[in-house]
Amino acid sequence: MKVTVVGAGAVGASCAEYIAIKNFAAEVVLLDIKEGYAEGKAMDLMQTASLNGFDTKITGSTNDYAKTANSDVCVITSGIPRKPGMTREELIGINAGIVKTVSANLIEHSPETIIIVVSNPMDTMTYLVHKTTGLAKNKIIGMGGALDSARFKYRLAEALDAPISDVDGMVIGGHSDKGMVPLTRLATRNSVPVSEFISEDRLTQVMEDTKVGGATLTGLLGTSAWYAPGAAVSGMVQAIACDTKKIFPCSTLLEGEYGLNDLCIGVPVVLGKNGIESIVEINLSDAEKAHLSSSAEGVKATNGLLEL
Ligand code: NAI
Repeated sequence: MKVTVVGAGAVGASCAEYIAIKNFAAEVVLLDIKEGYAEGKAMDLMQTASLNGFDTKITGSTNDYAKTANSDVCVITSGIPRKPGMTREELIGINAGIVKTVSANLIEHSPETIIIVVSNPMDTMTYLVHKTTGLAKNKIIGMGGALDSARFKYRLAEALDAPISDVDGMVIGGHSDKGMVPLTRLATRNSVPVSEFISEDRLTQVMEDTKVGGATLTGLLGTSAWYAPGAAVSGMVQAIACDTKKIFPCSTLLEGEYGLNDLCIGVPVVLGKNGIESIVEINLSDAEKAHLSSSAEGVKATNGLLEL
């Protein structure tokens, strides 16, 4: 398995590191437009190999896409991150141009690749890759829900005073503060609905804290987070590489599923060697359906800003 990660910044490097540490990929190519940056990050990471016990070969490249040839999976993290007070949607102007060029370059050298889009506004960037590359829809996957769900589980465990491994929960919908739909009704602690343990008010607070999870970190860090985003991407790449058929909420093109059409938004999907193996349609309550549909309206409004 050869993986390319475009953007050797905070998220790209963290993603490459987690992929290497999990030791399932033969090769990771880090590519960045900044001269020498990806080479430097790759060398630094390779010098952790004997310490962390992995055999994945990490190389760096300054914008030389020939080095990415025949990648099985390409991850796009190139672009600008938000600063405190910014929304993800405000990044669209710069990032759309970057994502369009980068995805065309990647496909030229790896026509069979699966692409995972991370750059924000992620649902709209995923849609842009659909509109501009002609790749099959199962091969274009947006990462947002895996991260948002990890943040949801973190907040649930905190509220329940429980170990995170005891907690399960999922966030669907758009990857934005207003668009996220944390499915509190379906969240469990060791198979028991979390509503058995905490009040509705506390659950509402968990939901609100989850939705602003990224903004909270941006406020603390001065830029957006990287460890959990990198780990979320690496989990998705691993599911594809090892054909695990694990379910992740991912942004994918909907064609009637959940009553939605012509947009990419987060829903549960099965990930395996073909990328998105299937979309899982769960029965949502009326309130959840309404929340998802207003989330979809928000994503469509951002898509409308694209110059296609
Ligand atoms: P960063 O600024 O640390 O890294 C971005 C890198 O992209 C830089 O090294 C830059 O040189 C490179 N780059 C810019 N244009 C390029 C081009 N045309 N070709 C190749 N490389 C190029 O930013 P960070 O924190 O890594 O975030 C990256 C993106 O990921 C941002 O758009 C951010 O909003 C998004 N993000 C998305 C998340 C999600 O859940 N989908 C979570 C966290 C961040």
